[in-house]
Amino acid sequence: MHTLIARNLKTLKKNLSSQRFRNKKTGLVPTMGAIHEGHLALVNKSIKLCEATIVTIFVNPIQFNNKEDLKNYPTALANDIEILTKRKVDLIFIPNIRDMYPQDFSTYIHLDKFSDILCGKNRKGHFSGVATVVMKLLSLIQPKCAFFGEKDYQQLIIIKKLVRDFNLNIRIHPVKTVRDKNGLALSSRNNLLNKDQKTKASKINTILKNFNGKKNQLHLIKKNLNLNGIYKIEYLEIRDEKCLEIYSSKGNKSKNYRIFIAVKIGKIRLIDNVRLLSK
Ligand code: PAJ
Repeated sequence: MHTLIARNLKTLKKNLSSQRFRNKKTGLVPTMGAIHEGHLALVNKSIKLCEATIVTIFVNPIQFNNKEDLKNYPTALANDIEILTKRKVDLIFIPNIRDMYPQDFSTYIHLDKFSDILCGKNRKGHFSGVATVVMKLLSLIQPKCAFFGEKDYQQLIIIKKLVRDFNLNIRIHPVKTVRDKNGLALSSRNNLLNKDQKTKASKINTILKNFNGKKNQLHLIKKNLNLNGIYKIEYLEIRDEKCLEIYSSKGNKSKNYRIFIAVKIGKIRLIDNVRLLSK
């Protein structure tokens, strides 16, 4: 069956009420476009687990706290549609800004937890913007499942909490981070890196992996990043992978931890996280 495209709420509603989606186990994959293999891992999982798959493409302005970042965010709509059509997704929803945020839009999700650490610390309102748009997409589409990547691990935890706190009957499936052959986590923002910057960016994962398990040696990771030309480290922290509580040597030894990192290479902000192997 061919892929349907809805560019406004009216078409979305019409499509959702058709035979193709009615009483079906529907999977939702929210994206901001510039589709790459990372996004496609989510799409593949949805196609595998669900009867119908819907991908949304919407560069959500309210999650950008920097106008320049929003302006430079890569878009590749024609190519995205071609890729997703080839994968045989059932519906691509590409809303326009006024459908999502009419002039008088005034209700935002406020997060008491998780929003002022890691990626939330220097990006005021970012996760409120993410939670608000995801809540809108979940409520418009009402899927049975939704898929989120571990690459944006804090986002995944926040969405799981959102679903729990609002009693939504939707299962959130995490998907492991897809990397290129050098270990660089795939990201739409990688398109903005030049060759030299990409080589630097590829070092991030190698360095994190080399230090895996040595929780008291974050300073060595920093030193190594510096030696490889990465100086702007926004954060580098070890946190519990369930509650995002910061690691303490006096803490519960049976917990599982991850290293979280955000760096800037040139003007491009990149994030990654890896699970720590040893306790
Ligand atoms: P975007 O950055 O386009 O990512 C869409 C989804 O793809 C997210 O769940 C993200 O974690 C996942 N993803 C991106 N790169 C990945 C990789 N290398 N491996 C695995 N998964 C990856 O995240 C957003 O958009 C937005 O915040 C959104 C949730 C759509 C709300 O606007």
